[in-house]
Amino acid sequence: MEIRPVERGDAAAVRAVQELAFGGPGEALLVERLQAAGADPVSLVAVDEGRVVGHALFSPVELDGPYGPDAPRLVGLGPIAVLPKRQGQGIGSRLIRAGLDDCRAQGFDAVVVLGDPAFYGRFGFVPASNFRIGNEYGAGARFMALELRPGALAGAGGLARYRHEFAELPAEPPPTLGT
Ligand SMILES: CC(C)(COP(=O)(O)OP(=O)(O)OC[C@H]1O[C@@H](n2cnc3c(N)ncnc32)[C@H](O)[C@@H]1OP(=O)(O)O)[C@@H](O)C(=O)NCCC(=O)NCCS
Repeated sequence: MEIRPVERGDAAAVRAVQELAFGGPGEALLVERLQAAGADPVSLVAVDEGRVVGHALFSPVELDGPYGPDAPRLVGLGPIAVLPKRQGQGIGSRLIRAGLDDCRAQGFDAVVVLGDPAFYGRFGFVPASNFRIGNEYGAGARFMALELRPGALAGAGGLARYRHEFAELPAEPPPTLGT
């Protein structure tokens, strides 16, 4: 199985994976809107025997706080989806690990995610409140953060704001972020 950046020709397959994994069109639509806006600095597919079986996207997140030009550069993980028949085989974990590496390589400081702490904790995510970073969804300990280099969030704090496309989904709050 190969993990590689999404390509133009993957659009239909990515849409299918997102729709099947989430059981509806919302996340696929969100992915397409973020792509159209160029707000998908890291977008990876897992390809097995020529078939797209998983997709993970990271989008820019703003940190509202008393920052000047030195504001930490954040991305948010999600939506991430693996074909239902292929879940539980390590594909999602590989997408996440490869995505974190790409985010680091692109110079991002940290990643946030809204989801199950038992799952995302495996990759080093800890409650974002440890860094005094809040979220717009009242998510508590399900909102997590990961420093891409040690100390990247030292002295950080503020409200993490996802791209406006997340708020424009039909469902509220965005189900894309939960697991
Ligand atoms: C979440 C998801 C991307 C994980 O991909 P995956 O390929 O199944 O994950 P992996 O095989 O790498 O890891 C599986 C492990 O994560 C756990 N896990 C998988 N999905 C989980 C979920 N929704 N919540 C909590 N734990 C989950 C499994 O219990 C499994 O644990 P184990 O290794 O102890 O057996 C995939 O299950 C999926 O597409 N789910 C539907 C869409 C979704 O909820 N996306 C996440 C929100 S953006």
